[in-house]
Order: sequence, then C-alpha cells, then structure tokens
Amino acid sequence: MTKLYNLLIASAIFASCNSSTTKTAEKGTDTLRFAKGKALFAQNDCGGCHAEKDAIIGPSFSNIAAEYEASPANIAHLAHVVIVGVKPNEGVWGSREMTPHLKLNPSDAEEIVKYMLSFPPDPNKPFLHNTK
Ligand code: HEC
Repeated sequence: MTKLYNLLIASAIFASCNSSTTKTAEKGTDTLRFAKGKALFAQNDCGGCHAEKDAIIGPSFSNIAAEYEASPANIAHLAHVVIVGVKPNEGVWGSREMTPHLKLNPSDAEEIVKYMLSFPPDPNKPFLHNTK
C-alpha cells in the first residue's frame, strides 16, 4: 500500500512538473516567434504613436487585435497600410494620419503586424475616434 501511495505521489509530482515545463516551452516559442517583430517595432518610429494597451495617437495593439483576426490576408493588408501610411481623414480609426514607412520591406512590416496582433484583443476599450 505504501508503495502504491509513493507511486501516486511520484506521478503527481511528475505530472505537475511536466505541465509547467510545457507552459514555459510554449511561452518561449511565442516569445521567439514574435521577437523579430518586437525588435523591428522598436527600431522604427511605431512606438511614438502605438502602445500595447493604450491608444496614444494611433490605436493600441489590443484595439487592432480586437478588430482584425491574425489571418494571412489581414496581416498582408495591415503591412501594406503601414508601408503606404494613412492620410488625414482617410483612415478607418478616426481622422489622424499615419506617416508612410516606405523603407520598410513587406516581410518586415508583416513581422511587426504579427507581433501587434499577438496581444489580447480588447473590444471593451475601443479606440476613441479623434475629433481633432
Ligand atoms: C505619426 C503616428 C504614427 C506612427 C509613427 C505609426 N502609426 Fe500606425 N497608425 C497611426 C494612426 C493615427 C492610425 C489610425 C489610422 C486610421 O485611422 O486608419 C494607425 C494605424 C495603424 C494600424 C492599423 C491600420 C488599419 O487599417 O486598421 C497598424 C497595424 C499600424 N498603425 C501599425 C504601425 C506600425 C507597424 C508602425 C511603425 C512602422 C506605425 N504604425 C507607425 C499612427 C501612427
């Protein structure tokens, strides 16, 4: 009986260790997956207008993630918007402009967009449309 008990304890400990290792591994993969986008975001001027949770001049990552599913079509579309920019009053979020990023190549722009879309969507905190 003691043997069986010890075995149960041992397997419970093993199971709990095992699950925490899996979680860490998943998190590690995610961090690696978005590391390039995160670095490119920091190297460009994006942070002056976009933040993770709060809308500054442009919508937050969570606002954008609530609006767009991370599908290949959306990622390609948003990467294009980032490169060509948004003229005042021609955007979908309000009247503000986003400066173009013509030197950014499409695959780098997509990496940044994927990183932005990896944040939890925040549909309850919509971007407040700019009223000038
Ligand atoms: C001068 C401020 C500014 C800078 C710099 C800026 N953005 Fe924006 N961004 C905006 C504004 C304002 C909007 C909302 C435009 C609109 O109404 O469609 C926006 C919108 C976006 C969107 C959503 C587009 C859509 O059609 O829904 C993405 C994605 C984005 N920006 C990514 C970036 C990235 C990546 C960078 C850096 C390479 C960047 N932005 C730099 C101001 C900026």
